[in-house]
Amino acid sequence: LKRKLLLFIYFHSLTVRSEDETIQSPKPTVEDARSWAISFEKVMKSAAGRSCFRQFLRTEFSEENMMFWLACEELKKETNKTVVEEKVRQIYEDFISILSPKEVSLDSRVREVINRNMLEPTSHTFDDAQQQIYTLMQRDSYPRFINSSAYTDLMKNLEEPPPPAEP
Ligand SMILES: *[C@@H]1O[C@H](CO)[C@@H](O)[C@H](O)[C@H]1NC(C)=O
Ligand SMILES: *[C@@H]1O[C@H](CO)[C@@H](O)[C@H](O)[C@H]1NC(C)=O
Repeated sequence: LKRKLLLFIYFHSLTVRSEDETIQSPKPTVEDARSWAISFEKVMKSAAGRSCFRQFLRTEFSEENMMFWLACEELKKETNKTVVEEKVRQIYEDFISILSPKEVSLDSRVREVINRNMLEPTSHTFDDAQQQIYTLMQRDSYPRFINSSAYTDLMKNLEEPPPPAEP
């Protein structure tokens, strides 16, 4: 009975976790994950790093910073003028508008640049803003991320995988 109960708890926790997992994160190699402690750039250049950092930001209620940064990356790849204008409008509505719950924190200089750029939207309309949010995440959230259980537990698991669960 005890064994069944433990299995139930184990699978139940797995289900809950996978439902919460809106982002499917690729499993990083030990070397990759270890490099994240060296610099923020290493985190952002790794798909698994961005995913893990994003999940940490969610716990700090600042996930919109990463969402905005990723949306800007997508925008910069777009060449179709119609699609660019549509994406610019959507990004503005989601992350720049003061009416949005996902508004990112930008200074007035950058806001002025955006408002000027909005007259003629391009795939680089948000470049200054994207840089400012990158720097914000680097200075503010990144040091806490490296010190967080989100990161240290992951490192522990990668370095010494837990033994198979045996009740
Ligand atoms: C650009 O995108 C629009 C909307 O998706 C599409 O209708 C149009 O054909 C595209 N133009 C080019 C040049 O690909
Ligand atoms: C890292 O975490 C430990 C324990 O959680 C805490 O005592 C320490 O102040 C933290 N350091 C930084 C730089 O946040």
